[in-house]
Amino acid sequence: MKYIIAIIQPHKLTEVMGALEKANIPLITVSNVLGRGRQKGITQTYRGTREVGSLLQKVKLEIAVNEDFVAPAIEAITSSAKTGDIGDGKIFVLDLHDVMRIRTGEKGSEAIG
Ligand SMILES: Nc1ncnc2c1ncn2[C@@H]1O[C@H](COP(=O)(O)OP(=O)(O)OP(=O)(O)O)[C@@H](O)[C@H]1O
Ligand SMILES: [Mg+2]
Repeated sequence: MKYIIAIIQPHKLTEVMGALEKANIPLITVSNVLGRGRQKGITQTYRGTREVGSLLQKVKLEIAVNEDFVAPAIEAITSSAKTGDIGDGKIFVLDLHDVMRIRTGEKGSEAIG
């Protein structure tokens, strides 16, 4: 199992979630975050994206998936989040040791989806 963390442009959220759903990956956690990449937060204001100090508003997606869904998730996110401009975002892929569904006590692959 892997835990995928993707930082994307806020205006791409709807499109990225649509692409993930199409790839049968509907379970997701979404947060508004502040961040900066290698331009250190220096950018033009774009589509209403506000700048806070040297930090830019971004959206963080967190998705826990079985191995079979790692490549489809990455493909869905990259193809839908990419504009080709700086600040399109990044995807981090972490090993996931376990998952527990609190209601049922299920674990691992059974609890993930
Ligand atoms: N090494 C990192 N560690 C933690 N967060 C990061 C890292 N790199 C990028 N991020 C997060 O991802 C967001 C988007 O990064 P961004 O797409 O600007 O990356 P970049 O490396 O600067 O690439 P680009 O040159 O395409 O802009 C950042 O605002 C930050 O929230
Ligand atoms: Mg950048």
